Amino acid sequence: GHQYANILTETKGRVAIITLNRPDALNALNSPLMKDLNDALRVYDADEGIGAIVVTGGEKAFAAGADIKEMQPLTFVDNYKKNFIGDWTGVTTIRKPILAAVNGFALGGGCELAMMCDIIYAGDRAVFGQPEIKLGVIPGAGGTQRLTKAIGKSKTMEQVLTGKFMNAEEAEKAGLVARVFPAASLLEEVLKVAKTIASYSLPSVLMAKEAVNKSFEVPLSEGLHFERRLFHSLFATEDQKEGMDAFQNKRKPQWKHQ
Ligand code: CAA
Repeated sequence: GHQYANILTETKGRVAIITLNRPDALNALNSPLMKDLNDALRVYDADEGIGAIVVTGGEKAFAAGADIKEMQPLTFVDNYKKNFIGDWTGVTTIRKPILAAVNGFALGGGCELAMMCDIIYAGDRAVFGQPEIKLGVIPGAGGTQRLTKAIGKSKTMEQVLTGKFMNAEEAEKAGLVARVFPAASLLEEVLKVAKTIASYSLPSVLMAKEAVNKSFEVPLSEGLHFERRLFHSLFATEDQKEGMDAFQNKRKPQWKHQ
């Protein structure tokens, strides 16, 4: 496959694995890394052989945030002209499910990147936080918005205003992460989930993700309307006939569209 300087990529069946790979900087998310990540995500999103994508980091850090060395000299005008961090949202334009497998630190932009993914799984020693306040700034890649939607106002305010860290157990209890696994088996467990998702009919998987994400953008009545239209439209696929026929005949469905 394609070689990137700041990430590793591999595929296992219909699952793609992207590993953030700047271990010396605890996977600090500099611009070249974010470009590599966005490029790889776009390639897998377009790849007919891929049905789900796992994004992971190292044992010590998923990612310790945006790169502080890169940011320190930046000025307002630099940031404004380049729309600094704006391109990170490329992650949220990916249509296939992205699962974050977080071991170690997911801080600042690292936590924000995890929150741009569709499901977060954590190793039992993972640490989440938005410590930007300690650097004289605030979260800039969605921390104040996505964390509030994930864990509510009071817990988010505490994270963002104090910079304190949350461990994996707290993060699961708060609803930020779906499940916690022993650190050593995290990736294996997440790959099982990704394999399951990638085994389903792709149109229904894409629409499921699209519908859940819609709930963050529109009022309930609009979201329900959108959901029902998508639900209706899936009856135009062969896979709806196949899935329901397979259920009735107690056999495994053979999906046409993956
Ligand atoms: N940017 C650049 N380099 C980083 C980094 C970051 N965010 N986080 C860690 N590193 C580097 C360190 O500078 C160090 O490099 P050197 O060996 O060259 O000094 C190396 O990674 C190892 O880090 P530490 O020696 O600090 O490791 P530790 O185990 O003592 O501490 C840590 C680990 C608590 C995660 C600590 O590294 C830390 O606090 N990192 C910064 C966390 C942070 O503030 N993140 C938010 C960044 S701002 C942001 O993300 C903005 C946004 O919203 C988009």
